[in-house]
Amino acid sequence: MSLLILGIESSCDETGVALVRTPEGAGLPQLLSHALHSQIEMHRAYGGVVPELASRDHIRRVLPLTQRVLDDAGCALDEVDVVAFTRGPGLAGALLVGAGAACAMAAALDKPVLGIHHLEGHLLSPFLSADPPEFPFVALLVSGGHTQLMRVDGVGRYAILGETIDDAAGEAFDKSAKLLGLPYPGGPELARLAQGGDEQAFKLPRPLLHSGDLDFSFAGLKTAVLTQAKKLGDELDARKADLAASTQAAIVEVLVKKTLAALKQTGMKRVVVAGGVGANKMLREQLDAACARRQIRVHYPELHLCTDNGAMIAMAAAMRLQAGREAAQKSYAFDVKPRWPLDSLA
Ligand code: KG4
Ligand code: ZN
Repeated sequence: MSLLILGIESSCDETGVALVRTPEGAGLPQLLSHALHSQIEMHRAYGGVVPELASRDHIRRVLPLTQRVLDDAGCALDEVDVVAFTRGPGLAGALLVGAGAACAMAAALDKPVLGIHHLEGHLLSPFLSADPPEFPFVALLVSGGHTQLMRVDGVGRYAILGETIDDAAGEAFDKSAKLLGLPYPGGPELARLAQGGDEQAFKLPRPLLHSGDLDFSFAGLKTAVLTQAKKLGDELDARKADLAASTQAAIVEVLVKKTLAALKQTGMKRVVVAGGVGANKMLREQLDAACARRQIRVHYPELHLCTDNGAMIAMAAAMRLQAGREAAQKSYAFDVKPRWPLDSLA
């Protein structure tokens, strides 16, 4: 039976809503429409996400965005079969908005509701691309809050191979960018500045590069960037692009080398990159080149679906239902899980 699934994402600073339809028989669900409101402009004045402002803005956006995706897809609200929302991890107040809206809509429609793991959304987002992967694969999940290498054997079958012991890769980008005086969110800004810089200008640490395991550590990098920036003093402005390029090169080298090590360890020939940092051009180029030499396929989400969005939540819900991992419930008492390990999913 074909299902029309509405997905709502509100875990951090983006309100995303999307509609996905599962096919009658086997096959991948199709994205019908999606809409996004980014709060970047609102938070920029504060240099980072202000949780209370985030929650209030999600409240303002979620229903108009829902109406927009229904209009774009030419569907009526009462045609929706399942309402999915991000249950965690993320900011508690922000998550509660999506959860509340989803459960209220589902209750009003007398339809089932389904809470989705945000990182599972990222992980499965490449299935929305024109070149979808096949299971099994290694996944490099690199977002603002998480950096993990996973072994993915199917929907809901996730094993963590390695993860960061302190800052996430996105955090390393964001914090280094802040030290360089760049606006929030720092990742894309630092990447842009790095384009005009010399990546070999400064020797920055590659933490845990030779640790022999698949864990990451990025906290020391921002300290090294700070030390270097202080050392430059008045010269910093003139050398900013070089320092940005050197920082990006350090982060990307660690991500690429550890991903190759995970592929070697598992013997897998396929890797999926997901999460906001997956939009980084240098990471894509270096990983593509390294994997091409080893006959390994690399899959990414479409560029605009790398950062948070509703499509990945609707897609994860659709794939969980298809895989029989989930029976959506007509139970509207909801909770959210601000902390929620991905490998605890079944
Ligand atoms: O997945 P995401 O949208 O949100 C979380 O779930 O955390 O990831 C956001 C992160 C931020 O740290 C942002 O700076 C980073 O992804 N990011 C980038 C780029 N685009 C987004 N980092 C480096 N280069 C980019 N082009
Ligand atoms: Zn995310």
